[in-house]
Amino acid sequence: MINILITGGAGFIGSNFLNLFVPRHPEHNFINLDKLTYAANLLNLKGIENLPNYNFVQGDITDYNKVLEIFEKYNPDIVIHFAAESHVDRSILGPAAFIQTNIVGTFNLLEACRKYWFKSNHNKYRKLFHHVSTDEVYGSLYLNEKDLFTEITPYAPHSPYSASKASSDHLVRAYFHTYDLPVKITNCSNNYGPYQFPEKLIPLMILNAIEGKALPVYGEGENIRDWLYVEDHCEAIWTVIQKGRLGETYNIGGNNEWKNIDIVHKICEILARELNRDPYEFKKLITFVKDRPGHDLRYAIDSSKIKKELHWQPQETFETGLRKTVKWYLNNQKWVDSIQTGEYKNWLNYNYTNR
Ligand code: NAD
Ligand code: TYD
Repeated sequence: MINILITGGAGFIGSNFLNLFVPRHPEHNFINLDKLTYAANLLNLKGIENLPNYNFVQGDITDYNKVLEIFEKYNPDIVIHFAAESHVDRSILGPAAFIQTNIVGTFNLLEACRKYWFKSNHNKYRKLFHHVSTDEVYGSLYLNEKDLFTEITPYAPHSPYSASKASSDHLVRAYFHTYDLPVKITNCSNNYGPYQFPEKLIPLMILNAIEGKALPVYGEGENIRDWLYVEDHCEAIWTVIQKGRLGETYNIGGNNEWKNIDIVHKICEILARELNRDPYEFKKLITFVKDRPGHDLRYAIDSSKIKKELHWQPQETFETGLRKTVKWYLNNQKWVDSIQTGEYKNWLNYNYTNR
């Protein structure tokens, strides 16, 4: 039995990952270490919480002693590091938490791996630290740029979020080269799907539209992102863990670039179809608001390395994935109610008032 420590498994991508792989791999033991910040929700894990190969520990990766305690108790063979502060707008309004969790937290985990995996009775080559990162570390592309982000594109982060993730990527790579720690890194494009906290574009637009609230599009809505269905990202991570080479980086993307404004129109059209309403009832809610400072114009991933080397392919098209996602938010009112707490209302006031 392999012990797999997942950090941040109560968040969006981590919980989708656990929901897929805990039932699929009863021969492995999964330990979910999560601080339970505003972005976490244990309801995401209802379907697996009683499975014998799933354990939950509430803890903060910035607390090194807590991390050591977990290593001592669970003896992880693989660490899959999802935990992060993940929202660009929050990083602009309050960067300190991003430095602590994304940089110091990653450093603590690397140190714990070094301490536990290099003991004489452990075989470090049977261990793995898998670092989950983002395409935002590469900065921004121009509209007509042909060369997309590859694994050798120089890092050029523009927000406190992407700078903190870039810093953590550098630390992970440094531990490979300096200490021979067995690591792999994946850098993925924007994810969407069930359980995403509605501070991010797609769930925010779905929920605001359902509630008849304004749909706040930053600037002119011309910014472009490359969208990937979350389960495709999770399958890619599993593929890299199984078949990827140590010390390597793999870019993961959907080859699926969309302007923000076009996505918002698409969401309005899907909602109209699902609810048997006129799309204009939703589209009239679109409101252009003040742009995000330092707003990256375009992200687009070249994922030919993972495709060629590891034969990974996304399964979901944007049409099918977005429809699934809209239906999920329509059918999961209990989940929606659980996250629309005081903290969420405060965030909406903080970020969108006077924009
Ligand atoms: P999320 O914000 O939904 O979840 C983050 C989780 O980490 C939460 O459960 C939170 O409680 C936990 N966490 C935060 N600080 C912690 C701490 N100090 N100690 C322990 N747990 C802590 O994020 P997400 O969208 O699921 O992203 C997961 C990872 O994937 C992040 O590393 C992010 O940078 C990366 N990523 C995200 C996207 C995306 O589009 N969402 C794309 C590429 C990469
Ligand atoms: P977001 O989901 O925050 O992801 P990221 O900034 O990490 O790419 O935003 C996606 C795009 O949508 C980005 O260009 C900013 C834009 N956006 C809006 O126009 N309005 C909003 O209310 C939000 C949250 C994002």
